[in-house]
Amino acid sequence: MHLPNLLDAKRRTTKEVNYLDYENNPSLFGLNKKYYLRTYGCQMNEHDSENIKGILESVGFISTDIMEESDVIILNTCAIRENAHNKVFGLLGRIKHFRESNSNVIVGLMGCMSQEEVVVEEILKNYKWMDFVLGTHNINVLANVIKECMDNKKLQVEVYSKEGDIIEGIPVKRDSNITAWVNIMLGCDKFCTYCIVPYARGKQRSRKKEDIIEEIKDLKEKGYKEITLLGQNVNAYGKDLYNDYNLSNLLEDAAKTNIDRIRFVTSHPWDFTDDMIKIISKYKNVMPYIHLPVQSGSNRILKLMGRRYTKEEYLELYKKIRDNIEGVSITTDIIVGFPSETEEDFKETLDLVNKCKFDGAFTFIYSPREGTPAAVMDNQVDESVKSKRLKELNKIVNKYSNESNKKMEGTIQKCLILGVSEKDSNKVMGYTENMKLVNIKAPKDTIGKIIDVKIEDAKSFSLDGVIVK
Ligand code: 5AD
Ligand code: SF4
Repeated sequence: MHLPNLLDAKRRTTKEVNYLDYENNPSLFGLNKKYYLRTYGCQMNEHDSENIKGILESVGFISTDIMEESDVIILNTCAIRENAHNKVFGLLGRIKHFRESNSNVIVGLMGCMSQEEVVVEEILKNYKWMDFVLGTHNINVLANVIKECMDNKKLQVEVYSKEGDIIEGIPVKRDSNITAWVNIMLGCDKFCTYCIVPYARGKQRSRKKEDIIEEIKDLKEKGYKEITLLGQNVNAYGKDLYNDYNLSNLLEDAAKTNIDRIRFVTSHPWDFTDDMIKIISKYKNVMPYIHLPVQSGSNRILKLMGRRYTKEEYLELYKKIRDNIEGVSITTDIIVGFPSETEEDFKETLDLVNKCKFDGAFTFIYSPREGTPAAVMDNQVDESVKSKRLKELNKIVNKYSNESNKKMEGTIQKCLILGVSEKDSNKVMGYTENMKLVNIKAPKDTIGKIIDVKIEDAKSFSLDGVIVK
């Protein structure tokens, strides 16, 4: 049994990262058995789930969407905010009932919640009936853990709080055959004071450039049209591994593979260099879309958050990106109600939004996360004040995203078609280069292709268009 440890999770040393290869479990012990996987949270978790599926299917399991039909139930969880927690514990209540009359079913918790001391303590106390808890650093041992649970029904907790390795070659079952996630780095060393990610995901460690480019070439060969380079803070790519190779170099090498579309998330304003702007505008296959979380417009709050830039510096970078990348769209993340945020601080955030006129923004109510510095700061903001501020902010954010959509009306956009539209089964849906969702009158055989689309109408959260023949 390996339990998570907050102090270890905080620790950063100069110890070298181990680059290891995945070891296959040769036995097909999952044959004729089904798994049910529920994923919460960010793209990183979605991609981890693709690895979880890959591992399970490599030992014979097949997937099911019906929990009550499954032999293995896995929750791949998120810890970023309190409500993500509550959802998982809610579902575990339901699973417990099912498990009571189906004692052979294996139930496991994975993802960021499994790295939290408080969560594992709760499981050891009140959820002893579960079969395993497996942390984010060692997904690679999943098959062995399940096999062990099947042979020997005893709760296994395998969570490492050490700094983490990079394991290449983990099996993957991708959700799409058109777009693909490509991890370029794991973990985060920024330690923003509200954020649990550096504890749950460990030290920043970059994959080797050769492994990343190989993966992209392989995806291109398999017919993938779009890749998204993934990391908590992609702009810091390479800092832990190379002296003179960073995200702009990686983007350039990725662009030279000639895959049709390259995206990347998430960017931290701190590490965003002029070289990156140059490369994005130079290569047609690097998409003009940047997610650039600002979090707050108040310099006082930014400092307390440990973001290491000021409102003025953010605005300067924002303008540089807008001025130098043609057709770029920029979205952001904003937190309201960080400890001690006053009405004045909040007004600064509104002012920043009014200046930037973001194409879109993800807005959050601050949620204290145990073990992070902000959770024990004085002057936590009242829930009712937080909700009021969120509402006010959303009104303005939506106004600008509507305006940004309206500007697209009448233009012709290249769209990568991903599937049938969820809104209207007679239409297809796809994304513009600058990441706007479009529902399109076009034949179904355009799925998987990049086509020219005339934008006819802008809705609040999407566009309507028609194929240009
Ligand atoms: N409370 C609210 N929002 C948070 N985020 C991260 N941690 C917290 C927290 N404790 C938001 C940030 C980040 C996004 C992924 O989630 O805005 O950019
Ligand atoms: Fe969290 Fe900050 Fe790292 Fe983003 S950069 S994952 S907000 S600590």
